Formats: sequence, structure tokens, C-alpha cells
Amino acid sequence: MNQVVKKRVAILISGRGSNMQALVAAAREPDYPAEIALVISNRPEAPGLAWAREQGLPTVALDHKRYESRPHFEGQLQSLLELSRIDLIALAGFMRLMTPDFVARWYGRMINIHPSLLPAFKGLDTHRQALSAGVRISGCTVHFVSAEMDAGPIIAQAAVPILCSDKEQDLAARVLTAEHKLYPAALALVANDQASLRETTVVWQSFGAAGINHPEALFSPSL
Ligand code: GAR
Repeated sequence: MNQVVKKRVAILISGRGSNMQALVAAAREPDYPAEIALVISNRPEAPGLAWAREQGLPTVALDHKRYESRPHFEGQLQSLLELSRIDLIALAGFMRLMTPDFVARWYGRMINIHPSLLPAFKGLDTHRQALSAGVRISGCTVHFVSAEMDAGPIIAQAAVPILCSDKEQDLAARVLTAEHKLYPAALALVANDQASLRETTVVWQSFGAAGINHPEALFSPSL
């Protein structure tokens, strides 16, 4: 019987790590196409890092403040990724910009989740931006990381309604619930090569009937 080789994933975090927890939970399923081989936080005090440590996952605190420049920080990051034979990087609330060199090195192998329907509402305070723009639907996006922040080729999105009574934290909580479903599904699409990057376009392999079975069309591709 052919054993499927799982992709080795490093999750990079800066804080709470709830998306990381969703990825870790998904990767515990025997047929999930990726394993979480490393968790790195640029903030040693990140609650997510403590959680990952408690789970017995390999963790590293890589405090960016200890490095004189971004390239020095990324040099150490690259060494850690190579040491752990990492295939894919999943950014999960990792709040540091990467240099174009680092992004180029991992282009097509580094993904990020952002709490808006990109290309709308890039950067910080996305839910405040959505509420003040008056949009009636928001959501989250998983995309390949490119040199421009929150702008890489889109792999998957989930949409949620904005209710008239919503405050920022209400919308954040609704989007976060969708993030926890979307991110593991999108990572699986990349890990099993159903979604890959050709230049600046995401190309799809044999998505099949599974992609068209969701009449409510809130998740696309259908999950
Ligand atoms: C998530 O909402 C994620 O989408 C966002 O940070 C939060 C991290 O939460 N990322 C960005 O805004 C990236 N531009 P978590 O630590 O609980 O996963």
C-alpha cells in the first residue's frame, strides 16, 4: 500500500494562536496531508507558543528584537526551517513583514490567513475598516504570501454576514469561527497539491465534484 508522504509545516505566530490550534487539530487526523513539524513565535511571551509547548510540539521563540536587522532575523528563521526540513510555512497571526528575499525563497510554499475578504481591508483593524465602510458581508481569506502585504494570490475565502447590531468584537468572533474552518481546509488544498502557484496565478488540480456541492456558496472553493 502506498503511504502518502505528509508535507512538513511550520506555523509562525505572534500571539494567541487560535488559528494554529485549528491547524494542529486538523493535522491530528490520520488522512490530513500535512503534519505540524514546528511552531515559531517572534514573541517569546505569545500565549500560542506556551500552548504549543504544552502539546509537545517542537517550538522555538525567535525574538525579533534580538536581531539587528530583518535579514539577520530571517537568516536564523531560514536555518531553523531547513533544520526541520520544512516544506510549507503557514502564517497564523504572524505580525511581522517579511523581506522580498525571504518571500521569494518561499514563494508558493508560504500561506497566510487574513480576516477580511481580500483585496478589501488590508492591514490592521480590518473589522473596524469593514464596519466603517458599511459593507454587509465580510469574511476571511487564505492566500499565498507575496512581497506586498495581504496581497498574494488567493486560495480560498469564507464569507460571513455583518449584522446591524455588530460591534467590532462581534464581527471579529464571527470571522474567527470561519477562519478556523477555512485555514485547515486551505492548507490541505496546498499540501496535497490541489492548489499551487504558477507565477501569480493559483492553478487547480482535479477539484472534482466536491467543489460544487455547496448550494449556499458561502465557502469558495466549497469546503
Ligand atoms: C487572525 O484573525 C488572523 O486572521 C489575523 O490575526 C488573527 C490572529 O489570531 N491575521 C492578520 O491580520 C494578518 N494580516 P490567532 O492568533 O488567534 O490565530
